[in-house]
Amino acid sequence: MTALSLQSLLFLSATLLLIQSLAEAATCSNCFIQSRAAYYPNSDEQGTDTGACGYGSFGATLNGGDVSAASDLYRSGVGCGACYQVRCTNSEYCSDRGIRVVITDQGSSDNTDFILSRGAFGRMAQTTDAAACLLALGIVAIEYRRVSCSYPYNNITIKIDENSNFPYYLAFAIWYQQGKKDITAVQLCETQNFE
Ligand SMILES: *[C@@H]1O[C@H](CO)[C@@H](O)[C@H](O)[C@H]1NC(C)=O
Repeated sequence: MTALSLQSLLFLSATLLLIQSLAEAATCSNCFIQSRAAYYPNSDEQGTDTGACGYGSFGATLNGGDVSAASDLYRSGVGCGACYQVRCTNSEYCSDRGIRVVITDQGSSDNTDFILSRGAFGRMAQTTDAAACLLALGIVAIEYRRVSCSYPYNNITIKIDENSNFPYYLAFAIWYQQGKKDITAVQLCETQNFE
């Protein structure tokens, strides 16, 4: 018996059916929700290499490093890959636009919904001076709303985890999930017999 190669696994993955469900509530799906945000207590500008979503080092640099850990929004992993517009609310320091972050990890700090990468946290500010002030605060009032993820140069990608071991164990992460919908299930089917 030959082992299923990475290439054939990727071929298999092309036949995946991605079952998506509406993520938005019927009412006010576009409204901002008030909350709080902190940032990772490391000196790294980007996210973490060990995020709960299983993206590995990809999860630190995705979206230019504008990534976040989520607490309730993690939703047992369904929230992984979802995008949120997050803006802090202090009008002296904060821009109206805020930032768009991708969820790559789970975590909460003192009543926060987001633990942002340090870079993302600072980019909520209007200027670099204001960013320094925000960073000094540590935790700030924010408002957020779900937005579409957009990766104009990438299609959705199934990344096979290195620990996969045919035929006993298959693990993969889904990269570049576009749009504003959740992936709640993935159906696999074999398209040919590998012998
Ligand atoms: C994405 O998929 C489409 C359709 O298969 C293809 O035409 C396009 O080149 C792909 N884009 C990238 C960046 O791979």
